[in-house]
Amino acid sequence: MVESKSVGRLAGKTAVITGGTTGIGLEMARHYIAQGARVIITGQNAERVAKAAADLGSEAIGVRADVRSTADLDALAAKAKEAFGTVDIVVANAGMGIFAPIEQIDESLYDTQLDINLKGVFFTVQKLLPLLKSGSSIILTASAVNEKGVATGSIYFASKAAVRSFARSLAAELGPRGIRVNALSPGIVRTPFQDKVDVPKEAMDGFVDMVVAAAPLGREGRTDDIAHAAVYLGSDESSYVTATDLVVDGGYMNV
Ligand SMILES: NC(=O)c1ccc[n+]([C@@H]2O[C@H](COP(=O)([O-])OP(=O)(O)OC[C@H]3O[C@@H](n4cnc5c(N)ncnc54)[C@H](OP(=O)(O)O)[C@@H]3O)[C@@H](O)[C@H]2O)c1
Repeated sequence: MVESKSVGRLAGKTAVITGGTTGIGLEMARHYIAQGARVIITGQNAERVAKAAADLGSEAIGVRADVRSTADLDALAAKAKEAFGTVDIVVANAGMGIFAPIEQIDESLYDTQLDINLKGVFFTVQKLLPLLKSGSSIILTASAVNEKGVATGSIYFASKAAVRSFARSLAAELGPRGIRVNALSPGIVRTPFQDKVDVPKEAMDGFVDMVVAAAPLGREGRTDDIAHAAVYLGSDESSYVTATDLVVDGGYMNV
């Protein structure tokens, strides 16, 4: 077991962040550790997980777990119990995007998108729930466009709209146990996410430019913009906040 820091906004807390090998999840892990938390990060690939955990240092543990696999999530929960005993913050963050016209989305692509972004979020919460006591916080990474539609984005944005919906119902269900559930919706943030999306670079850049131009703050988001919000939602500072969607997008969705 790793000793906890005694100072910081998350001092003494334990957290599990799925999809913590790169991008937003990795940045959240950095901030959580800086604020005194001990963190488990996950990803699909053992080498990437080990590298990210090593970069994060002694307060981080890496666990290879594919969120599509309930067996992997059972093993993740067992590891969290062994390492921490209980978990204070669960960030169901792992996700990816498939963008294609409806005619090009076959059953396999559909299942991949929904299995990672939706089934993965649901069973991450279900499997870790036995380790959560009153006062815990669950954060579900959705997306700032979860209330909008975008051509070729049908299955990705449907998955994120459903994640936002999970936050409502799970907050209702777990609130009586003192467990908060919120969605956290990033706007456009440059991470490996965009490189993994199978659309031409110009199309992706055009989409990013369009969103940035429409956002009141007129810039792309940074991973630490999202990580700061995740610190707030994970900390006791947000102890009266549940079922909401904290949109961190420079204002794009709400104007
Ligand atoms: N970047 C944006 O503009 C943006 C905007 C709105 C919402 N989001 C959401 O923010 C979250 C993080 O995205 P990001 O931008 O940080 O992208 P990223 O850099 O590609 O990170 C995605 C993370 O999810 C992990 N992951 C993917 N599939 C997984 C699986 N089946 N099982 C376990 N882990 C898996 C990846 O790990 P491995 O590949 O190493 O397994 C990686 O750690 C996602 O849910 C994404 O939809 C991103």
